[in-house]
Amino acid sequence: MPHIKLFIPGPTEVRPEILDAQAAWMIGHRMPECTDIIASVRPKLQQVFQTEQRVFFGANTGSGFMEAAIRNCVSKKVLNCINGAFSDRWAEIVVANGKENEDLNVEWGEAVMPEMVAERLASGEFDAVCITHNETSTGVTNPVGEIARAIRSLPNGDEIMILVDAVSSLSGAKIDFDDWDLDVLLTASQKSFALPPGLAFMAVSERAMAKAATVPNRGWYFDFLVLDKYLSKNQTPSTTAVSLMYALDKQLTDMLAEGMEARFARHLAMRDRTIEWAQGHGFELMAAEGYRSPTVTSIHNNLNIDIPALNKFLRTRGMFLSNGYGSKLKNVSFRIAHMGDLQMSDMEELFAAVDEFLAENL
Ligand SMILES: Cc1ncc(COP(=O)(O)O)c(C=O)c1O
Repeated sequence: MPHIKLFIPGPTEVRPEILDAQAAWMIGHRMPECTDIIASVRPKLQQVFQTEQRVFFGANTGSGFMEAAIRNCVSKKVLNCINGAFSDRWAEIVVANGKENEDLNVEWGEAVMPEMVAERLASGEFDAVCITHNETSTGVTNPVGEIARAIRSLPNGDEIMILVDAVSSLSGAKIDFDDWDLDVLLTASQKSFALPPGLAFMAVSERAMAKAATVPNRGWYFDFLVLDKYLSKNQTPSTTAVSLMYALDKQLTDMLAEGMEARFARHLAMRDRTIEWAQGHGFELMAAEGYRSPTVTSIHNNLNIDIPALNKFLRTRGMFLSNGYGSKLKNVSFRIAHMGDLQMSDMEELFAAVDEFLAENL
């Protein structure tokens, strides 16, 4: 299969040395070699999540850990902050698990504001809030740190579980789990971590662990208490994705060698350049100023270009970007991901190719 460089918001481009790391000999998940890998990965994951709390990992995607968060942390009712297609998924998961849900709807392209959340929580009927840190459909980053501060300053703020989906931002955008006082912060391997799909990661607070112990019917596969029991022994309850763990261990080492602050700065620089390129052509952006994502830019197709034709052309140059997400945004927008291990030179290569297409098709 020819190499097509991915500028889509997941799965993202994976470096050859990370792909190669998966090809080591197989080991059993109860063998000491596997325990050693888990012991190596744990403190590195904590650094990436900026936490001293536990970080679970699982052979599942991000949606699995969204379900885990709901099953373990909700006994009353969830307030779901919705400003795009992915935050809508939280609501589906809550309802599918037989729990009560209420939506806080914000216009797509706008950010969820702390005072909106605080106002809705004042009724006292909620025990959890779900927020999507980075709306991959619109390219909006919600101010989760400020929202969390507003929640914690409510009279019952300490009883509210703050559940954050950072699937398309963690490790590409600064999120400080401990300082922001979050309860669950989850992500998946195939986005900013720049790994193949198949692993997910989730930091869980002491507050959430204590809450889980009181919530019935947590299931088994995603039960925080079961996950914690095994993690503390550097094990997993069931067979882990061993090959992906090899890749994870190497990628975490490389990420920390780059330095998290440098990694965040690289993402911001690629974001700024993407915005400059888009606006320079007269494109408008989906996301409101001040809340534009460090990892993905969603662009209004106000110049009416043929996005499938653009991608067909880009394929001939060995590249691919993303159409708008879902029926609401497809063809009326397109998305350029600048996440993971992509470099500015990759972005310039993409812009040059798109320019070539636009020169012939506008
Ligand atoms: C913000 C966000 N949340 C959740 C998901 C679902 O993640 P997964 O496919 O890993 O289950 C995605 C996938 O694109 C996403 O961007």
